[in-house]
Amino acid sequence: MKTDALLELRDVSRSFIVRNGLFAPKKQLQAVRGVSLKLMPGDVLALVGESGCGKTTLAKMLLDTLPPSSGQILRGGSAANARNRRERTRQLQAVFQDPYSSLNPRKTIGNIVSLPLRVHQQGNPAEIRATVDRIMNLVGLPPRFYNSYPNQLSGGQRQRVAIARALVLRPEIIICDEPTSALDVSVQSQILNLLIDLRAELGLSYLFISHDLAVVEHLASKVAVMYLGRIVESGTARTIFDNPRHPYTRALLASVLTPDPGKGVPDIQLGATFPNPLAPPSGCAFHPRCPLARPECRIEAPPNVVDETGAVECHLYKEPIL
Ligand SMILES: Nc1ncnc2c1ncn2[C@@H]1O[C@H](COP(=O)(O)OP(=O)(O)O)[C@@H](O)[C@H]1O
Ligand SMILES: [Mg+2]
Repeated sequence: MKTDALLELRDVSRSFIVRNGLFAPKKQLQAVRGVSLKLMPGDVLALVGESGCGKTTLAKMLLDTLPPSSGQILRGGSAANARNRRERTRQLQAVFQDPYSSLNPRKTIGNIVSLPLRVHQQGNPAEIRATVDRIMNLVGLPPRFYNSYPNQLSGGQRQRVAIARALVLRPEIIICDEPTSALDVSVQSQILNLLIDLRAELGLSYLFISHDLAVVEHLASKVAVMYLGRIVESGTARTIFDNPRHPYTRALLASVLTPDPGKGVPDIQLGATFPNPLAPPSGCAFHPRCPLARPECRIEAPPNVVDETGAVECHLYKEPIL
């Protein structure tokens, strides 16, 4: 199970059993369908796709908080086991979307940021305090916040607390799941810039999840585009932004280019809406919304074509474009 990646997913799937009502029959919802993905040292890998496409489910599996239904998740070459559990938690930390619910309202900021150090027994109280002071300074939190509570802070400040807490154990990888979506537009760029600065300073690698391609444009070195549980296109950020191949990636980019300040989830001008994951379309899941769909797109699953710039899963690219 050797891998050169910091983090690797191999053909990972996850389904949930759901029912629409008390007496409705149980159904299987495939949230993630056969995803393979690598995070290499120094990467800022952006995972982009509309709400409901499976991004958070994927993040939870990477964080060991949700087991995959099938497939492998490797971290530096090894899968999770009882012995490496502690070290795995230290290596990989997360920042979530909502800084209001992710911080315990009854704990002080000092308490929240120092908790991982205490749990992992990283030093005596004086050393822990010094580390927390240093990290708070690094993320731009004034020392006076040490004894404050989350409700005394703004959304942006709370997200800085969440970032400080993620950094305090000196992880190698940070998973950011929509870290700026709950913040005011004016604060979003401050947090994005902070993440960029921290990456350079601490040598971090990021998996950065967003429904908005515009958010990741200045941050990502690689992009993976997700649609209904599958990665439909991936490649370097330059390729994805300059030469997108999948019609879905193009649609996402087009919606980014539509000037509509403050708009949330991209509105894709393709007629149909996001499909019901309980009844996924046949063939290529994107075909009902695809302006370029051909007859075979309704019937056959598209091939996954890999070349040196990335991978694309679409009938339009049957041959490797080498
Ligand atoms: N615990 C769960 N039980 C049932 N369905 C779930 C659960 N978690 C997520 N889902 C479903 O899986 C799909 C993907 O969800 P999610 O990973 O949260 O997407 P995203 O983060 O891209 O918005 C959605 O259809 C969602 O309703
Ligand atoms: Mg999500």
